[in-house]
Amino acid sequence: MILKGKKIVIMGVRNKWSIAWGATQAAYNQGAEVICTCAEDSYEKVKELLQELPGTSLYVCNNVSVDEDIDNCLEEIKKEHGKIDGLLHAIAHANTQDLRNDFINTTRDGYAHAQDVSCYSLIAILRMSKEKEMLNEGASIVAYTYFGSEKAIEGYNVMGVAKAALEASIRYLAVDLGKINCRINAISAGPIKTLSAKGIKDFGSILDVVEQKSPLHRNVTTKEVGDATAFLFSNMSDAITGEVIHVDNGFSIIGT
Ligand SMILES: NC(=O)c1ccc[n+]([C@@H]2O[C@H](COP(=O)([O-])OP(=O)(O)OC[C@H]3O[C@@H](n4cnc5c(N)ncnc54)[C@H](O)[C@@H]3O)[C@@H](O)[C@H]2O)c1
Repeated sequence: MILKGKKIVIMGVRNKWSIAWGATQAAYNQGAEVICTCAEDSYEKVKELLQELPGTSLYVCNNVSVDEDIDNCLEEIKKEHGKIDGLLHAIAHANTQDLRNDFINTTRDGYAHAQDVSCYSLIAILRMSKEKEMLNEGASIVAYTYFGSEKAIEGYNVMGVAKAALEASIRYLAVDLGKINCRINAISAGPIKTLSAKGIKDFGSILDVVEQKSPLHRNVTTKEVGDATAFLFSNMSDAITGEVIHVDNGFSIIGT
């Protein structure tokens, strides 16, 4: 029970295939008080899922592109739960046409949208949490990223650029959060079939390549990513901050 006594906010559960659902289960199984947030359109589905985990709670953070939505959600959480010990950012979005066309055709609006939802939202959420003095001393933040930030992966396009910005932001945020003795890290998860992943062209072949070439010759599960997330929330990772940790069965170390 490495998270006993900790309050953990999980942002971005959509359904039982969401990677954030694996993190919710892992945090719960490790003894945390789990507080989930989701977009309005997933509320009923997530509420039903959470019935499997008594004592968890759910709030709406409908659109992380809107400061007011983030503010209201954090305010409600603060009112009900007080300070928190961890927060997961598992939120990303890009317009479908920007994942289907060549990267060179990305529109200015599409670029801004992917950056706003998938990267800037993390900065906004943490700034507001800090201003509201919601982060307990020693709190640990985790965000999910993908290898498409490091290498050009067909179809990942504008999302790869947003993830590169997210990873750089994590290093700068680690410096700022360090001043209040809080940590932040990213997990670069291997590909997993989720609703978001469906937007990526030929996602099935990305899964096949990982199975063929990764040292462990298999794809990762939401449980494995969730367990690594629980480790980062725990005091067992107290000296780790500003890092991008690959949870990908070793795929990222392979040259060809
Ligand atoms: N699936 C993969 O292969 C993979 C691999 C590595 C990293 N990731 C990352 O994991 C995270 C979770 O994605 P997932 O694959 O579990 O998919 P998912 O579709 O289950 O989760 C994405 C979440 O983002 C939320 N979201 C999107 N736009 C939003 C907005 N404007 N405001 C509020 N919420 C919004 C959705 O409601 C959903 O809950 C994302 O950051 C994704 O990039 C996914």
